Amino acid sequence: MYFKQMLDELCGCASYLVASRQSREAAIVDPSVETRQYEALLRERNFTLRYVIDTHVHADHISGARTLGAAHGAALCLHESAQLAYPFRRLKDGEELALGQLRLRVTHTPGHRAELISILIANPPRSQEPSMVLTGDSLLVGDVGRPDFGGGDPAAQYDSLTRLLRLPDWVAVFPGHFEGPCGKGMCGRPSTTIGFERLYNPLARLERRAFVSTLTQGVPPRPLNMTAIEATNRGVADMAWAMLTTSPEVREIDIAGLGSRPPEAVLFDVREPAEYAHGHILGAVNLPQADLASRLAEIPRNRSMILVCERGTRSYRAAQFLIQAGVDQVVSLQGGTAAWRAAGKPLAVGDTTGETPRVTESEWAHAGAF
Ligand SMILES: [Fe+2]
Repeated sequence: MYFKQMLDELCGCASYLVASRQSREAAIVDPSVETRQYEALLRERNFTLRYVIDTHVHADHISGARTLGAAHGAALCLHESAQLAYPFRRLKDGEELALGQLRLRVTHTPGHRAELISILIANPPRSQEPSMVLTGDSLLVGDVGRPDFGGGDPAAQYDSLTRLLRLPDWVAVFPGHFEGPCGKGMCGRPSTTIGFERLYNPLARLERRAFVSTLTQGVPPRPLNMTAIEATNRGVADMAWAMLTTSPEVREIDIAGLGSRPPEAVLFDVREPAEYAHGHILGAVNLPQADLASRLAEIPRNRSMILVCERGTRSYRAAQFLIQAGVDQVVSLQGGTAAWRAAGKPLAVGDTTGETPRVTESEWAHAGAF
């Protein structure tokens, strides 16, 4: 067999190319929008692409699956429960896809999203037992995928984790992320084993109720441009440009600079609505990073703009995206609202009767931000 993991540093995602060296048939799992890397590999190795599989509808990065499927006449595969506006091969739990002598076994592991599947890989000439599993955003290294968007369900995630951890110790685990906004405590390693995670994943020893409350108590903010990205991956929008694929330098200002900003400057707070409601810099307008691309028309092109978040990371990445989208008069507030608060400056409060903020600023949730 042939197996290659590809890591995307900008979004913290992992994708995979699996192939039979005998039959030269290949499958690509969770491809990124940068499809040239797979094209090059298929060409160099003289592989024929049979299947392109998305383990789920991604909300944090644009999938390259449709592009690859169309270019190679390969079957575009997702779980049968995926809600998509385009045709795809509907995979069922327990179904097997053949790649020469290899077997890819579909295992439905919902929780992060309802349609999420894991893929067990077996190489029967060596063993009928699977030696590896691609887990998408169910089991991550030291973590599991967050359950709070796109029809996710923490109790289903508990059941899926339990199902995966029944696999033999030696099974190698290859997740859909090593960093990024789909989990809050990822170790950073790009792979692990079932045996190690059963012993040392902090979520693996929790009983159901504690697991559910741990998963729902604190979540990272929704990903940058999530609304546009998820809609594009479902085929109901065409906004592949919403993916941050560049890392332009952003000018940062400190809170003294914010105090002396020109009167015409617009201040956008890119945090979640509940965070904004519980205390924001006076005059800031709330535009959550998740909705930035879908609300791009609201961004004034002829005025200087300051982006602010909680600690300065989300606003930096949001500013990178605006620069990529052709908006140039944008700066980011270093240290964010936290620095403003720490300096004893006054905060305005909105309607605090709704949800209390449960956003955790996980250190590695903003993959690609250094
Ligand atoms: Fe995901």
